[in-house]
Amino acid sequence: MIAGADVSVPRAFARAMAEMWVRDGIAVGEPGAFAATVTESFAAGADSAKAASALLRGSGVRARWNDVLRRDRAAALAARIRPFLAEPLLDVLAGDGSVCRALSDLGIARLAATERTGAYAESALPAATDFRPFAEDVDLSQFGASTALLSTVLHHEPDPVRLLDAVARAAVPRWIVVENCVTAEYSRPFHQFADRFFNNCLNEFGVDCVEQHRTLDEWVDLLARYGSVTIADAAFTVPGIPFPYSLLVVGL
Ligand SMILES: C[S@@+](CC[C@H](N)C(=O)[O-])C[C@H]1O[C@@H](n2cnc3c(N)ncnc32)[C@H](O)[C@@H]1O
Repeated sequence: MIAGADVSVPRAFARAMAEMWVRDGIAVGEPGAFAATVTESFAAGADSAKAASALLRGSGVRARWNDVLRRDRAAALAARIRPFLAEPLLDVLAGDGSVCRALSDLGIARLAATERTGAYAESALPAATDFRPFAEDVDLSQFGASTALLSTVLHHEPDPVRLLDAVARAAVPRWIVVENCVTAEYSRPFHQFADRFFNNCLNEFGVDCVEQHRTLDEWVDLLARYGSVTIADAAFTVPGIPFPYSLLVVGL
């Protein structure tokens, strides 16, 4: 660790990660010890962070973890989201498209998606998806969506209000928001560490992490500027994710 650094967050993350590996069937020899080694190395500075990444890759944990994220996380989210959506659904910043793919597997046919060009090397989007690249000045009304999905997107945006304003301008009547919220157990620094770990250790996502994490109440307050907000689920477990997600539905 860097001298004088607060070790409580890396330790809490290591514990949550090891528990998640066991819970979600991601095979790791000695999960507690391996999680502590990887996390301490990641927290110790740039050079040792590369070693942490190499450990995840070389042990096969990275590949097994990413498989769970692509398959099981996406399936779990699709099952949660489905009861609240009306087609066509627009997946705003759809990432690798795995959630759209899982929604399609559940029979959702009319899907649209947008993502920043070059953000993801591979796409799992179903072929029939109406995909258009995302731009800061995008007109989201072109998708004609009845539901907008913002799945673990808002806390990554330097200006989440700007993105929400774009969805509001498109007059999409229902929004489904998935967020990982700040709680007493999962602090703001914990989520910031998790973002950096996912982007710079598990995978390589070449965009800086921003500090837009909020509590569930803070998300409700922000979303209530746009419509009526329902907390569909305050906290649920998602495969591959070492902290809970929350599900909110906004009606305009
Ligand atoms: C965790 S991904 C979620 C993707 C997809 N909605 C899902 O749930 O699978 C976060 C989204 O935020 C965007 N993003 C912006 N800045 C980011 C950052 N620093 N780290 C990760 N994602 C970032 C990505 O383009 C991506 O679409």
